Amino acid sequence: NGYFTFDPGFMATGSCESDITYIDGAKGILLHRGYPIDELARDADYLEVCYMLLHGEAPSADEYAKFKQTITHHTLVHDQVNNFFRGFRRDAHPMAMLCGTVGAMSSFYHDDLNISDEDQRLRSAYRLVAKMPTLVAMCYKYNIGQPFVYPRNDLSYSENFLNMMFSVPAEQYKISPAVARAVDRIFTLHADHEQNASTSTVRLAGSSGANPYACIAAGVASLWGPAHGGANEACLNMLQEIGSVDRIPEFIERAKDKNDPFRLMGFGHRVYKNFDPRATVMRESCHEVLAELNIDDPLLEVAMELEKIALNDEYFAEKKLFPNVDFYSGIILKAIGIPTNMFTCIFALARTVGWISHWHEMLSQPGQKIGRPRQLYTGHAQRPFNKIDK
Ligand code: CMC
Repeated sequence: NGYFTFDPGFMATGSCESDITYIDGAKGILLHRGYPIDELARDADYLEVCYMLLHGEAPSADEYAKFKQTITHHTLVHDQVNNFFRGFRRDAHPMAMLCGTVGAMSSFYHDDLNISDEDQRLRSAYRLVAKMPTLVAMCYKYNIGQPFVYPRNDLSYSENFLNMMFSVPAEQYKISPAVARAVDRIFTLHADHEQNASTSTVRLAGSSGANPYACIAAGVASLWGPAHGGANEACLNMLQEIGSVDRIPEFIERAKDKNDPFRLMGFGHRVYKNFDPRATVMRESCHEVLAELNIDDPLLEVAMELEKIALNDEYFAEKKLFPNVDFYSGIILKAIGIPTNMFTCIFALARTVGWISHWHEMLSQPGQKIGRPRQLYTGHAQRPFNKIDK
């Protein structure tokens, strides 16, 4: 009717109906398909969470076994993907490679991209969940100049990922159960988060009928920014910049200074204004992993001290700025030897199931419309155009 609401940043816009994830930011509640995130992180593994996000219910033991078999069946990528990688500079950012290679997946499955067919949609979803760890590990191996490691289907989802990251032909990586469990938890805690920037991007791309691999590539691109998935990488870079415990107060003061653009990375959240329920679980895992690995790293010392000081600071309390999930996940990833520039790829790996579940849900809903926001035009009023020679 010609009227619309002006809502930059979509602070007050509900863009869709969804059955997948519920968030109450004020109370710090996060539910997937009705199940509380802390119970899932404690009692379910990531593949169970993937199943419920995609299918709506937690799996029975039989359904889980079948799902796991389907996912492991799809873990390999076509060997031609190796050639695709070789076109990148060897020092390319892994997110740049991930964006490109995920998008390229559509060129391998063009006979299976009918988005009106539910079976084909689900097959694309399974392929994506299965192949993301393979692609992410390939990004890392390519960066460091080691041969790609093929997936192993006798391992769990997180063990297989760690093996593809850290094994070399001469030496099999020894997987610590505590580390595999922490990585599985990182995956679970990042699996979905309703209509965040990257999920909304995937939905918007999908609303035009684009294929699922192209939509997920769009999600990867959106996740890359430091205000979203790039925060865990930015957080570690910030800890590096702080460098030592005695410099923390200087950075706390900078974060409070209105004239300084500096922000404490890994603190604050658009939706959670009291605490991030994922951060509570991740914090527990973080302390467990640090104790288990007995790591002596000055950066981790800075992180733990920063957490303490910021949690007791008046400015942060008043603005309701608490460490978010990425503050702790970054510390865990660093402790297990994953380089900082891989952090956002790992977030993308874990979030793929959320993205594709939203895409699948959207295409299952009747009367789906292309996403097409309007704008408030602030440019010139109409004016005559003069030919270039005039
Ligand atoms: N350090 C210092 N001050 C902050 C921070 C911070 N990290 N975050 C917010 N503020 C201040 C901000 O300056 C503003 O102050 P004032 O009211 O005086 O203008 C106030 O708090 C509200 O900030 P906002 O930017 O209006 O809040 P938002 O809801 O738009 O932003 C955020 C949320 C996550 C983008 C922001 O807190 C931030 O930039 N955090 C650092 C980056 C980060 O860790 N992002 C990861 C989010 S969790 C992962 C995910 O879900 O993607």
